[in-house]
Amino acid sequence: MNSLKHLKWGVTLAAAQTEGAYDKEGKGVSIWDTFTQKKYNIKDRSNAQIATDFYHKFKEDIDIAVDLGLTIFRFSVSWSRILPNGTGIINEKGIEFYNKVIDYCLKVGVEPWITTYHWDLPQKLQDKGGWTNREIITWYADYVEVLRDNFGDRVQNWILINEGVVCIGGGYFLGVHAPGKRGIKNFVSSTHHILLAQAKGFKVLKQNKELKVGTAISCTKIEPNSDAFADLKAAKRIDALMNRLFIEPHLGLGYPYDDLPILKRISKHYKEGDLEELKTNFDFWGIQTYAREVVKAAWYIPYLGAVQVKPEKRNSISSIMGWETYPEGVGYFLERFCEYDREKPLWLSECGMALSEEEDDQKRIEYYEEVIALMKKTLDKGVNLKGILLWTLVDNFEWAEGYIPKFGIVSLDRKTLNRKLKKSAHWLKQYLQKHAN
Ligand code: NOJ
Repeated sequence: MNSLKHLKWGVTLAAAQTEGAYDKEGKGVSIWDTFTQKKYNIKDRSNAQIATDFYHKFKEDIDIAVDLGLTIFRFSVSWSRILPNGTGIINEKGIEFYNKVIDYCLKVGVEPWITTYHWDLPQKLQDKGGWTNREIITWYADYVEVLRDNFGDRVQNWILINEGVVCIGGGYFLGVHAPGKRGIKNFVSSTHHILLAQAKGFKVLKQNKELKVGTAISCTKIEPNSDAFADLKAAKRIDALMNRLFIEPHLGLGYPYDDLPILKRISKHYKEGDLEELKTNFDFWGIQTYAREVVKAAWYIPYLGAVQVKPEKRNSISSIMGWETYPEGVGYFLERFCEYDREKPLWLSECGMALSEEEDDQKRIEYYEEVIALMKKTLDKGVNLKGILLWTLVDNFEWAEGYIPKFGIVSLDRKTLNRKLKKSAHWLKQYLQKHAN
């Protein structure tokens, strides 16, 4: 049986949130480059043109990870840095950059993990409809093939799509993330296509038998506001959307329209054999959970019939992200994934909390201590948890929230781009020295 001592520890980063160098050395425009140009899209009117400048400072960041005792370094590849037009001509400078990152990780003794897609679609593909266009299944598979052929000799662990439901929900349903599209029509077509793309990407990567390939699932604990039947049903609808939609089609269980009937609209986009194509036996699941949401029935909300009861309305505290930080979700979801399959390896592929600039970093330490206790509990029950990747190393560009929330264990001076370890980083180093291999 696994124990805390056997868990691997690492960090997760994403290209659009860290790299910067948005127009350097042949990189094409991504939908986030475009989205951040519009005036009111980002809370602090910032953009990610420089971000943490990981493009130039990757060695420094990898060195910090190593110094803290971390052994996994997960980063995402920017599609438009590799294929500036989304398809076709390869930008050799882009390949060179990720080669340098991978080789440096290997040199200093951390495992590089690749996320193939962390939300930064090439703008050229968005111009053709992005995820609403079924052709994207092929565009994505071809892109993944380029990654496999260039990096598959040295990178063993791969995550295909990061948090599909947030990416499609935010970008194609609510319009609060790039590319800023709204509406149920965009949502259902994009959902179907990104899941099919992921299934195809899996097959492409698995042509190399050495590779371990999984996906990263956003998980939000949903609770009803009361025992009233209407609230219980509302909670089931939101749970189907947030916690089942991106899992169950891959398990051959179909779309969860038993609880969320609007999902039947996805069938308009079915082609023969699609449901079979979606079935994917991932090598592992990546679980990413941050928050709890309490919901109640609301007939006036289209499609979902539910609203959130905000934390402050129920004597709870909102984090700077506006959500209720909920470490207990870690234990809850680890056990819930076991109901699908007890044997499947599980990773906490992101884990962290947002603080404001003013809040004491001690809170982050307490959060991680709680997470450790919860991991221990589930490991004792025999859950097949392999490790935890922290979100994140250096404070970065938090999408529509700009640079306001701080998720890092290392702070960033945005003028000098200097990094400074926070209390939580020192705590982590000590913890790993004492408890990890
Ligand atoms: C999950 C996303 O993958 C990541 O990009 C984001 O920054 C964190 N959640 C925090 O919101």
